[in-house]
Amino acid sequence: MSKIEIKNLTKKFEINGDSIVALKDINLTIDKGEIFGIIGMSGAGKSTLVRTINYLEKPSKGDVYIDNISMASLSAKDLRKKRREIGMIFQNFNLLEQKNVIDNICFPLEIAGVKKKEAKKKARKLLDTVSLSDKEKAYPSQLSGGQKQRVAIARALASNPEILLCDEATSALDPQTAGSILNLLKEINKKFNITIIIITHQMSVVTEICDRVAIIDSGRLVEEGKVSDIFANPKSDVAKELIIGKEIRFSTTKSINNRKVV
Ligand SMILES: Nc1ncnc2c1ncn2[C@@H]1O[C@H](COP(=O)(O)OP(=O)(O)O)[C@@H](O)[C@H]1O
Ligand SMILES: [Mg+2]
Repeated sequence: MSKIEIKNLTKKFEINGDSIVALKDINLTIDKGEIFGIIGMSGAGKSTLVRTINYLEKPSKGDVYIDNISMASLSAKDLRKKRREIGMIFQNFNLLEQKNVIDNICFPLEIAGVKKKEAKKKARKLLDTVSLSDKEKAYPSQLSGGQKQRVAIARALASNPEILLCDEATSALDPQTAGSILNLLKEINKKFNITIIIITHQMSVVTEICDRVAIIDSGRLVEEGKVSDIFANPKSDVAKELIIGKEIRFSTTKSINNRKVV
């Protein structure tokens, strides 16, 4: 379980001489053991924010502190070690198609130098945690979306992470399957004491499992607080659009504030 502090974080991308400010001066503290939601529209900077937490993207300014340790201060070796303490799951699961379920879960362990037999033992335990013991030998193409995400969760847990980053992890799933994945994440949060960050554009995900939520819009943090408070009384325009205007937003494709939303 880790505390995450994001301090004065700015991230710029340079493309063909143009500078895109993906994140602008973000300050955010995520407490140990919390399930924290980050919401915003497409292009708001959500994925960039999670990728800077594990330093897959280096901040242009500011820094990320995990349990009071500056990520910028870590050597390349320590950064690799730290990243192993941060699991990540994605919308498209990112499983290795040519490996079966158990080998997908063992893969990061073997890279970390764990012996094959030990890795298998651990992987089997994790398959039990995600209720997929009967699929050990199946290949990703033989699994449903929900099952693939369960494998991805087991793989993310293999290195005993302190933090789990979930980038639109339920966005490709039907509501019922998404609900079962969210329940699993809740169980994991309790059972393994893992701090979980959930990035989503789906409001139902936030109301279902998050303790607190931050809203980002065009790279800026516009609102944060307890989910019940923010949803009862959204203050910023984007929070109002996301929370109150969600039926309009998600049932049609239209342009709001010159942004294409689906
Ligand atoms: N590697 C990159 N190079 C250039 N621009 C990027 C890169 N990654 C993201 N961006 C830009 O940063 C902004 C935020 O993107 P992203 O974090 O993916 O948003 P979200 O996840 O909220 O949809 C977008 O304008 C996107 O085009
Ligand atoms: Mg994204």
